[in-house]
Amino acid sequence: MSKCRSCRAPAVIDLPRHNANFCAEHLEQLCRRQFRRAVDDFEMFTTEDRILVAVSGGKDSLALWDLLVTEGYDAVGLYIGLGIGRYSDESHVIVDAFARDRDLELITVDLRADHGFDVPTAARVTDRVPCSSCGLSKRHIFDTAAREGGFDVVVTGHNLDDEAAVLFGNALRWDVEYLRRQAPVLPARHGFPRKAKPLVRLTEREMAAWCVIRGIDYVVEECPMAIGNRHHMYKEALAVVEATSPGSTAAFYLGFLERMAPLIAHDEDTDAPAPCRMCGSPSGAADAVCAFCRLADRAGAVQPVPVELVLGRGARRRYVEQWGASALMEGDGHGGS
Ligand code: AMP
Ligand code: FES
Ligand code: ZN
Ligand code: ZN
Repeated sequence: MSKCRSCRAPAVIDLPRHNANFCAEHLEQLCRRQFRRAVDDFEMFTTEDRILVAVSGGKDSLALWDLLVTEGYDAVGLYIGLGIGRYSDESHVIVDAFARDRDLELITVDLRADHGFDVPTAARVTDRVPCSSCGLSKRHIFDTAAREGGFDVVVTGHNLDDEAAVLFGNALRWDVEYLRRQAPVLPARHGFPRKAKPLVRLTEREMAAWCVIRGIDYVVEECPMAIGNRHHMYKEALAVVEATSPGSTAAFYLGFLERMAPLIAHDEDTDAPAPCRMCGSPSGAADAVCAFCRLADRAGAVQPVPVELVLGRGARRRYVEQWGASALMEGDGHGGS
């Protein structure tokens, strides 16, 4: 049996990128060390800051919330109900239970109840991939909740594998504007809060192991609307490289931050955007309506579209296998709105 590098006790995980195996206790120490290193090296926040942590119910964001509070930070959770059928219902239950069990404060925003639409309906009316209206809505709600609640920083559970996959996609297109913004911390600007990603030195597998060791119940399934998107393809491509050459993912992403990002950085000296006429958040031209309010206006004007009806064939089959067919599916099945 393999042994822990630090204490020689039986190991629970092998981490080829560290060329070592670890027991539960020493894996936990490693994760805490990598978390603290990211927070401190990139000057993300301090124990003086009020932190808003965006939690989806997945392993990364729940592990992050756990890390934050056990490392002595003041972190309130924010869960957004995106209206993605039973996947969203289940995520909400998990996040609620996590907060309740640990006596943590959780803010919940529901797209349908609070803004009159949901992600499947937005995907249908915009006729774009669901992740685009989903991402727009999440960013808007993160920013608004941070501003209204007086938080100093919004943190998300993006891990090393996520960030490397985004970097890979941006580099494939040499999208310099996106590459410039791919920092693990973005300062507050023009009414937008500071944003940070404290898990950028930790992998998906390490975060899954963290949740097992710490007894954290999380939603294992991925968002059904994101199945088959490009991000997944880039992750799979990097996983192939990582399997043959352990440490490549970290070298790619952390090397970019250290050696490439400074070469393309420049001061953005743009004017402060005018507030949105409808919601008051920083938007763009004077008297304009922000993209989120325009989306809410369009998607709120039609009948809700159930998630199954906007999934491709393969994703729909997986969704029904996982969550069962809803009453709406069993009805006419193809109607839409
Ligand atoms: P994703 O874009 O789904 O990979 O999620 C990236 C990060 O965004 C997660 O780790 C969370 O911090 C945050 N996030 C995603 N979905 C939600 C949600 N429904 N509510 C709050 N935060 C979320
Ligand atoms: Fe973006 Fe599901 S989380 S569409
Ligand atoms: Zn050990
Ligand atoms: Zn607005």
